[in-house]
Amino acid sequence: MNFDRHRRLRSSVNMRNMVRETALHKRDLIYPIFVIEKDDVKKEISSMPGIYQLSLNIMDEEVHEAYKLGIRAVILFGIPNRKDACGTGAYDDEGIIQKATRKVKSLYPDMLVLADTCLCEYTDHGHCGVLDEHTHDVINDETLPLLVQTAVSQAKAGADIIAPSNMMDGFVTEIRKGLDEAGFVNVPIMSYGIKYASAFYGPFRDAAESAPSHGDRKSYQMDPANRLEAMLELESDLKEGCDMMIVKPALSYLDIIRDVRNNSNVPIVAYNVSGEYSMTKAASMNGWVDEERIVMEQMLSMKRAGADMIITYFAKDICKYLDEGEY
Ligand code: PBG
Repeated sequence: MNFDRHRRLRSSVNMRNMVRETALHKRDLIYPIFVIEKDDVKKEISSMPGIYQLSLNIMDEEVHEAYKLGIRAVILFGIPNRKDACGTGAYDDEGIIQKATRKVKSLYPDMLVLADTCLCEYTDHGHCGVLDEHTHDVINDETLPLLVQTAVSQAKAGADIIAPSNMMDGFVTEIRKGLDEAGFVNVPIMSYGIKYASAFYGPFRDAAESAPSHGDRKSYQMDPANRLEAMLELESDLKEGCDMMIVKPALSYLDIIRDVRNNSNVPIVAYNVSGEYSMTKAASMNGWVDEERIVMEQMLSMKRAGADMIITYFAKDICKYLDEGEY
């Protein structure tokens, strides 16, 4: 016969496992938790079944569960009681994220806590920085010092990794400088520098109550049509000293993850965002797709594209699948 026999290596489970190129591990997973400043709340987010806003006084259970399942990294998002024009709550040492960070670190000192450094959950207008009163656009250079204060306050509270998601130019330079000056030379920056202006963040904005009250984020987040621009963002962030790079969203941007892999040597993080979770969940709750198989296939696709870690709302489910299934 004059053809190649690719099926030889697909003949049995053990044969297939032996030649598998990509694997997903629990250590790859980062689990997002929404912490609300009000007491006694456990409220399911209607567009994200299985994901909750949790009060500080009742978030322990969630952290215990995640830890027991094998999750060793969480990213925290805060829903403050009060918001204002400058997002003061983001850099308040007694703010919700600072308290939640201390709480997680006191429960499990070895659990890595990632802090999302942004102002949108704390501003009354819902934008990621301070606004120009005439144009209503976010002023880049006036926002930077507030982000630096936020990052330093998060590091002081015990955050292990600073993950700035605001998309202001120069944030890596400024935050690195601020962290170093405050004595946090060893706290890494995981940059969300490649973040697209995406409709896939819709459910997150319900969860974090952070939808902009006017306009959109297109003057600071990237145009989904652009691929080369992602390489410019990458170059800047590497030059500015970021330690890890996030690509966000993940599933519609696997080409970008691959580009980052081929053009840098930093660890890459895929953010499997809220809309990706909601779509998968909705279809599986209707019985239209097999949730476990679809989720695991999605995770493998991100790793295959070049991601090292994945931020995902499915993290707890994945740990269960990894415990029970053949992966
Ligand atoms: C904060 C932030 C957002 C997300 C993560 N950090 C929202 C946004 O940019 O509007 C979205 C995450 C998700 O959709 O799961 N800026």
